[in-house]
Amino acid sequence: MNGIAAGTVTRLNTLAHPPHFALFASALSFSASQPAPVFGAAARLHHLSSTRAGLLAAIPAASSHQRAPLTSNIGSRPAKAPPNPRRMATTAEEQANLVEASKRLAAFQAVKDHLLPEYTRIGIGSGSTVVYVVEAIAALGPAATAGMSFYPTGAQSEQLIEAAALNLQYINKLPAGQQLDVAFDGADEVDEDLNLIKGGGACLWQEKIVAASAKKFVCVADFRKLAQRLGTAWTKGIPIEVLPMAAPRVLDELLRMGSLNPRIRPGLPGKAGAIVTDNGMWIIDAPFAPLLLARDLESGTQSGSGAGGVWTVDALADRLIKVPGVAETGLFYGKNGLEVASGAQKPVAAYFGMADGTVQVKTPSV
Ligand code: 5RP
Repeated sequence: MNGIAAGTVTRLNTLAHPPHFALFASALSFSASQPAPVFGAAARLHHLSSTRAGLLAAIPAASSHQRAPLTSNIGSRPAKAPPNPRRMATTAEEQANLVEASKRLAAFQAVKDHLLPEYTRIGIGSGSTVVYVVEAIAALGPAATAGMSFYPTGAQSEQLIEAAALNLQYINKLPAGQQLDVAFDGADEVDEDLNLIKGGGACLWQEKIVAASAKKFVCVADFRKLAQRLGTAWTKGIPIEVLPMAAPRVLDELLRMGSLNPRIRPGLPGKAGAIVTDNGMWIIDAPFAPLLLARDLESGTQSGSGAGGVWTVDALADRLIKVPGVAETGLFYGKNGLEVASGAQKPVAAYFGMADGTVQVKTPSV
């Protein structure tokens, strides 16, 4: 992995959180106190201590008033170091700033490691973390990016690409048999095997098409997204994109499958009625009991095929996509780009900006 040696790398065998994590995450109303790591082997986890310059570069973005200019170089150090929000994140605003700084740190590291100079086709996901991915790419400057085309996953990322004066291209223009070199995107939750829940921003369908069109998909997130199993930290439900006329029937089927109070996502406060996706669809958020991994079935006590509403990630994803009216689901699962040459939904690496100012990198176990 290019550039991975830039930080201090420690391989950890568990998802142990730094001491700050519980404090900050609980203050942010997220499920910070994950159970002890009783599950099996996780994806490999690297812990990158940010370089001093890298950390300082991330901190100004914590405050929208202090954002570094887009033209600065990655890792450049501001002339005057601002106060470190990690030492004093006690108010809601400071905690929000901490999350933003964590997102930015992860994004800059992921771009540094995975955007190679020879690349020409880059997928750009959706959400608030991807804003920093685009900032990191734009910071490389026109000389580095002039030969690159950027493929959005919806209206938001299209605007981001244009605002950063990067070359906009569309996935429907990608010739048959061709692939993107890399795609960067956020996630709502990431489990030990790098399965993802996506779609919190209602862009999951195009996000999956773009991710699966890339040779490698890189996930970028903050510390709140780390989980042992999907459905533990992100409890709003699995986002499912549905044809509006089919929504009542899909809700019926989700209840039969054991979903706990599935609901059509409202458009409020911006829009009355249901939220409408970039594809003219609706989103149903379907909570399920935490999703198992194949190795959780080894004891033989659970089937993971829906009995009692308990599913493995793969079984649920395979079942959901067969429900008439479901266009796509926010479960990104199956293979990653190291395992298959095309069509992978899982990332080859997930970058997490941590509350203590480090970046943890999870890669698939070998
Ligand atoms: C949008 C997505 C986003 O990647 C996901 O919701 C994470 O968003 P954020 O970076 O704002 O936390 O899947 O459909």
